[in-house]
Formats: sequence, C-alpha cells, structure tokens
Amino acid sequence: MDNNKKKLSLLVCGGAGYIGSHMSRMLSDHGHEVTVFDNLSTGYSKALKWGDFIQGDLRNPDDLEKALSSKKFDAVFHFSGLIVVSDSVKHPFQYYDNNVTGTLNLLQAMRNNGVDKFVFSSSAAVYGDPIMDLITENHPLAPLNPYGRTKLYTEEILEDYATAYDFNSVSFRYFNAAGAHPDALIGEAHRPETHLIPNILLSSIDQGRKLKIYGDDYPTPDGTCVRDYIHIQDLCEAHLAAIEFLETSQGAHSFNLGNGNGFSVLDVIKAAGDVIGRKIPYEFEPKRDGDSPRLVADSSKAHKLLNWKPRYGDLREIIETAYRWHKNPAF
Ligand code: UFG
Repeated sequence: MDNNKKKLSLLVCGGAGYIGSHMSRMLSDHGHEVTVFDNLSTGYSKALKWGDFIQGDLRNPDDLEKALSSKKFDAVFHFSGLIVVSDSVKHPFQYYDNNVTGTLNLLQAMRNNGVDKFVFSSSAAVYGDPIMDLITENHPLAPLNPYGRTKLYTEEILEDYATAYDFNSVSFRYFNAAGAHPDALIGEAHRPETHLIPNILLSSIDQGRKLKIYGDDYPTPDGTCVRDYIHIQDLCEAHLAAIEFLETSQGAHSFNLGNGNGFSVLDVIKAAGDVIGRKIPYEFEPKRDGDSPRLVADSSKAHKLLNWKPRYGDLREIIETAYRWHKNPAF
C-alpha cells in the first residue's frame, strides 16, 4: 500500500482505547501528527504514547470546540463509541447520548472549524440477522439492538452531511477486531472483558476464571456462533488507506472490514489451545441476547477501492499476538 507521504494533522477521538491506541501509533509511525481526544472512561492513560492528549467528552460541545480549534486538523478519526451490546439494551439513553448525540456534537465542532474529512468506526451490527453467507455492503441494514442502531443512524447522518455540507466520510463496518500489536506494548483490555479471544486467553492464564460459551444450538455446523476475526493492525491499515481515499473521493462511503473466513466459538477455542499448547476447558451457558449466529464479511469493496488486503489471514497468528499481550499486559 502506498501510504500518504504528506504529513497530516489528525484528531483521534477515543485514542486511549483498543482500536484508537493502535491507530494513533500507526499514524504516528507513518509520520503524521496525532492528537488524541478521550474522556478516559474506558481507555487507558498508559495507552497515550503517541501524540498530544486532550482530555474531554463528546457529550460536552465546549470540550470539542476547544479540541477542534486547538490546531488545524486535516481529518478526524472517531473511535469513541460505547460497544457492549447487552448494555445498550439495558441503557439505551447512554448509547444514543454518547454514540449519536456525541457524534453530532463532534461533527458540529468539525464544521465550525472547517474540517471536512471523517473516518468512523461502524460495525457489522448494522446488518442484524444476516441473510447472506458472505455479507456485502448491500445487505439489508436491520440492527437487532440499540448499539447497532447507533452505528446505523450515524452512517445515515453522514450521508445527509455529504449531501448538504460537502462533508466526506468513510464508515468502516468492523467484523471482529482481534489481536494486539506484534511487540505487545499495547493490546486489548476492556473492563469488564466481554470479547471471546481475550476471555479465552484470560481463562487460560487465571485458571480460576471459567470460560463460558454462550449457546450450543445455533444453526451452525457445531452449534456455536461463527465470526470473522480481523487483526487490529489490518483494521488500522484500512483507516490509513481511507485518508488517501478521502483526498480524492467525495461523499459518504461504507466498507466492510473482515477476513472473509468464518470460525465458530469452538474453532477459536481449539486454535487458542494450539497457540498456548494445552486444551482450554469451557462450559456452555444460555445464549446472549442479540448474538447473530453467523457474521462473515465480503470485503471486496475495500480490496478494490482502498487497495486494502489483510495481512493476518491465519487465526492462530492473530491469537498469538493477543496471547503475547495478555501474558504481560501493560494496562
Ligand atoms: N462468546 C462466548 N464467550 C465469551 C465471549 C464471547 O461464547 O466469553 C461468543 C459470543 O456469544 C459470540 C462470539 O463469542 O458468539 C464472539 O463474541 P465477541 O463478544 O467476541 O464478539 P461479538 O461478535 O459479540 O461482538 C462484535 C464486536 C462488538 C460489537 C458486536 C456487534 O466485538 O464490539 O460485534 O455485533 F458490538
């Protein structure tokens, strides 16, 4: 990939979180000037090693105005989303307030300060219960929970902004982000941890921590849910390509980001066992609300228009980077 040579000034909202910290690091490694905006509610100050830091909250327009007027930014990356599906069902106000109202505040501060390029973290959750084996961007959009609706509404807002204000954006519909930077200085750390790969690894490290599999009678070959795991560095590379794309493309664009390979929960546990070198015990629990049986991406639009291809095609390799981090996490 021919990454842009021009040094850009970029605002990374949510840069103290899992994806945002990997992104800040990659942007900085490519010579760009990074400023992180984060309220540190779920992110970590120890992840703030790349660029300047402005502490602030999306729900406070004054914080955003201060941040956006502090420098002349070329583009904004937005990773400051609440992401736990079950919480979104219990606390829809918080999800709409942070993920939709907060994003509107951010877009307003961008417009006030003449910034018209935006890269947004959307989700495969916009598709709901899929009717295709490999999901393309044309699949019907029918989210099953408030979390997914916050992502869909934001994408729709971005389309309206493109029409009305010449505001240009890329929304990335992530499938399952996984793994850590290969040097393990940063990695995935959620409080509480709800994601499968970290939970598998944490249960193998702390043997008092039981690994639970949610559901054994999904309509999949082994009865457990199938997902498409994509390495964090590959996700970030697509964002890097998006900046270049936005230099020449107008409008609001959405892209899937996945590997195109589906692995069941049992497949992932087996692969993690191979990486660690021992079998990982688990027990079955009832299904979680809002889990789709199968979510696997067709990412050919990103291959074609962004010239993006994931480098980590092997699930074991993805888990290996995560394991390196989880054995000795810095935060
Ligand atoms: N799972 C378990 N045990 C666990 C954790 C997960 O069995 O301890 C199962 C889930 O039920 C699901 C699969 O493993 O079938 C993957 O679960 P994750 O929580 O790792 O990922 P999800 O597919 O639920 O979530 C992903 C993103 C979320 C996003 C969601 C939207 O990681 O941030 O897609 O659909 F909200």
